[in-house]
Amino acid sequence: MRAYDIILKKRKGNKLTKEEIAFFVNSYTKGGIPDYQASVLLMTIYFKGMDDEETANLTEAMMNSGDVYDLSSISGKKIDKHSTGGVGDKVSIILAPLVASAGVVVPMMSGRGLGHTGETLDKLESIPGFRTNLTKDEFISNLKKINVAMIGQSELIAPADKKLYALRDLTGTIESIPLIASSIMSKKLAEGIDGLVLDVKTGSGAFMKKERDAVRLAKNMAAIGKKTGKKVVALITDMDQPLGNAIGNSLEIKECIEVLKGRGPQDLIDITLELGAYMLKLAGKVNNVAKGKDILKRHLSDGSAYQRFRDMVELQGGDVRAIDNPSLLPSAKFSKELLSERTGYILKMDTEAIGIASCMLGAGREKVEDKIDPAVGIVIDKKNGDKVKIGERLALLHYNAEDRLAETYKKLQGAYLISSKRPKKRQLIRRIIMA
Ligand code: URA
Repeated sequence: MRAYDIILKKRKGNKLTKEEIAFFVNSYTKGGIPDYQASVLLMTIYFKGMDDEETANLTEAMMNSGDVYDLSSISGKKIDKHSTGGVGDKVSIILAPLVASAGVVVPMMSGRGLGHTGETLDKLESIPGFRTNLTKDEFISNLKKINVAMIGQSELIAPADKKLYALRDLTGTIESIPLIASSIMSKKLAEGIDGLVLDVKTGSGAFMKKERDAVRLAKNMAAIGKKTGKKVVALITDMDQPLGNAIGNSLEIKECIEVLKGRGPQDLIDITLELGAYMLKLAGKVNNVAKGKDILKRHLSDGSAYQRFRDMVELQGGDVRAIDNPSLLPSAKFSKELLSERTGYILKMDTEAIGIASCMLGAGREKVEDKIDPAVGIVIDKKNGDKVKIGERLALLHYNAEDRLAETYKKLQGAYLISSKRPKKRQLIRRIIMA
């Protein structure tokens, strides 16, 4: 087999076989195919696309390029959730212990990335002592003890994706639906799960700005699930405004603790219950989503979800005193109110700009080597459709570095569009997609 023939076949618009895809992925990962040939194949896939079978074969080839976890020694169904990322998206931190408390094993692995959305791993690491780098044995042992562990993805998971993703980043081929779908799914399927609930976000703060693209991505990932024998459900959810109110690492942990104690913002609760109910359904714990939501609501109000979170923090080396008393979590030295310059309704929020503003305060990274400040961020007071008066508070900035404030304030101010017209209410859960 020759890389040249595979490129030519795809260039002519023909379908690649499982063997051709596996050959290309394996040879490229081992250094047997040069970057220029891999770049050309990626660009050809970008223009010619891949059907469901080719995408599933690409996913399997990338998954098999590294470690594939075997969790069969743990009894019960293993179900994970993956979000394509959004501003203030802290759902995993509530969802994983909540669903675990209802008897489902949740082996949650998150990747490290850059960008405006913040990372689950950074959020968890704002809890003093919390370790996200458990060994495989520790990971499995914790899952056996409490049904849940939240860790960073090992370097040994899907190395082919790592190499190909870096090349895509340099060659303008990130935005290809089959390449995104196979990249995400290769890493998730390597976790040894039985089922996966996907939260595919759409809107101004999402990777997929247009709902049409989010739906295409979700359908592609659900089809990969079907072809690889895994249960996959995808929810298309709103990211035209931040989720909950808090953005920034320890601020988000504080909000998660509120929800785990049966309080907190309604949109965050609603989306967590919906995703969690589908996880229970995929695990066979309930036969309908309404029943799943009832169980999870009970676990939020009777303290069992909070207790499971506390157990997870303790087992992963975190200081539970900071959980029981969130004022012990990192907090910023200064705060500044963002005030409304006019009276009206919040018509639109540029959610990506809000995420970037939080990163500018130090909550996220621009470069891999950047250090983040766990204490800083933004707490939103007003969201889409809310009425505001001139001089009323829209948000509170929590900051440490005074030299970053003026520019960030301006960025945040520019993210709000206020109008005299009351906008239509948006739906949080837009669509449910199953294979
Ligand atoms: N996230 C991934 O893991 N891969 C992509 O291609 C895009 C987003």
